[in-house]
Amino acid sequence: MRLFFALWPDDEVRARLERWSRELHALCGGRTTRPENLHVTLAFLGSVEETQVAEVERAAGEVAPKAVSLVLDQPGYWKHNRIAWAGASVVPPELAALVSDLRGALAKSRIGFDAKPFVSHVTLLRDAREPRAIPELAPIEWRLEGFALVQSVSLPQGSRYEIRKSWKG
Ligand code: 2AM
Repeated sequence: MRLFFALWPDDEVRARLERWSRELHALCGGRTTRPENLHVTLAFLGSVEETQVAEVERAAGEVAPKAVSLVLDQPGYWKHNRIAWAGASVVPPELAALVSDLRGALAKSRIGFDAKPFVSHVTLLRDAREPRAIPELAPIEWRLEGFALVQSVSLPQGSRYEIRKSWKG
């Protein structure tokens, strides 16, 4: 199964991200992420054997996430993959520590993951055009209290993400 670890928004943060997504869509077009799929990826594992999932969950259980606020204040656009996103100009040390502890616990258990450095972002649009100027959007304050292990399920209408388990500080 296809797995990743993520920060999962509550309904209020999700609604505010949807508003950003609509504003960016008006400028850049593209395909919007389904609201129920909006998230920040912390570690992308990709395909994991059923028999390894218990070890993935055990490794994640070693991590003690600290509650912290993440302020999404920076819409952005990547030319190389035509993605428009919501990002944070400041990554709080507690979040950087969570990513590093989680990836460290996975590595210790020899669980493979994409080693690309963490970039705190929520993908809002795919196949988007580059906007002439990045708009000013009202910052979104997101109170982080934990993280989730998410399964990506492929459906004819696109991927659906299902939370398998979550951990709180
Ligand atoms: P993205 O949002 O920047 O596209 C599920 O696929 C999630 O894992 C997406 O949020 C995706 O990031 C992220 N991800 C990180 N590394 C990935 C990889 N190597 N392949 C696919 N998705 C990856």
